[in-house]
Amino acid sequence: MARYDSARQLAAHKPDTPVFCIRPHAVTRAARWFADGFPGKTYYAVKANPEGWALDAVRAGGVSRFDVASIVEIRDVAARFEGAELAFMHPIKAEAAIAEAYADHGVRIFSLDSEAELQKIVRATGGAKDLTLCVRLAVPSDGAHIPLNAKFGAHVLDAPSLLQATRQVAQRTGLAFHVGSQSMSPAATARAMELAQDAVVRAGVILDVVDVGGGFPAAYPGMTPPPLRAYVEEAAERFEPFLSAVNSELWCEPGRALVAEGASLVLKVEARRGNALYLNDGTYGALYDAGALGWRYPVRSLSRAGDSAEFTFYGPTCDDADRMEGPFVLPADTAPGDYVEIGQLGAYGRCMATRFNGYGDYMEAVCTDDPFGTIYQEDTKVRRAVQ
Ligand SMILES: Cc1ncc(COP(=O)(O)O)c(C=O)c1O
Repeated sequence: MARYDSARQLAAHKPDTPVFCIRPHAVTRAARWFADGFPGKTYYAVKANPEGWALDAVRAGGVSRFDVASIVEIRDVAARFEGAELAFMHPIKAEAAIAEAYADHGVRIFSLDSEAELQKIVRATGGAKDLTLCVRLAVPSDGAHIPLNAKFGAHVLDAPSLLQATRQVAQRTGLAFHVGSQSMSPAATARAMELAQDAVVRAGVILDVVDVGGGFPAAYPGMTPPPLRAYVEEAAERFEPFLSAVNSELWCEPGRALVAEGASLVLKVEARRGNALYLNDGTYGALYDAGALGWRYPVRSLSRAGDSAEFTFYGPTCDDADRMEGPFVLPADTAPGDYVEIGQLGAYGRCMATRFNGYGDYMEAVCTDDPFGTIYQEDTKVRRAVQ
């Protein structure tokens, strides 16, 4: 793969296809932070970026367990890292997927949020006695930019009986939750831990695993998150009451926070109309969240400098919805033929792209410079409060 000192050097080649600048070193730095700083086990949520380079970079930083959500993710990760520990944490799975995961890929960790799913897991694994089963609890998504509490999760009042039933069949029983993606509030983690404790007390079961899920934020314009250490400290502190169980473990499943800084996208300006720039990728491509959620990714011009103005972007497809409101700040004289770089696209970027209108092809190059910004600069290492 081609290597460049910067996206500007890459743009000098005037690519016609969108190019991802990948920065594996940024992903490895993030993974090292979790490997050193999280007082428990970290599972990388593969859905955030399933590309081989990202998996390798995560593992190079010391995170070698994976949260997988489909049989395809399982096959890919198992083929790449033989014997890696995989946790199938989708609460509603195809029975055939569970069976293949268990029999062919050594998966022993599954999540569930209903009695029906528990029975499905028991059937698909032939009543296996070596399972770690995590009950997914519904918790508030307060403070999260992408809520994750409507589709999955047992209600706190239903969780106790499900925990008891799970205890009957599992070798190890866990409780998992997700506070929502891009969570801006460590208090939400604290609240979720309290709900988890409540469910466990009502159930009267001893828990082997508490899994705080993902949701750890990245930095985007207008979304400067509290330090990651604050989330980890909340989880670690509130994990203490669970420690009555011998060998009980604290887990997390970060996706976004591990890979967001690891890629940017170099795009060409195909046209300008007023302060709207027509780019060669958009909402149906890697910029879904810029369009559908109105996220303002960081941008910079690779072609010019000077007084700036605010722009809206359009993507290349024929659809009006292929619009990204922004505003995105670029030099006021930005013109067709210019190149712009859009940062923080390592998470939920390329993996969200469609083939709509025949678009969705990307080139890829390694950039050795720093990402747009990093939340891992300062020494934010968290002490291993809980071993
Ligand atoms: C079960 C589970 N774990 C982890 C993640 C990763 O979340 P994030 O990228 O916000 O860290 C998700 C995201 O949807 C998820 O559903």
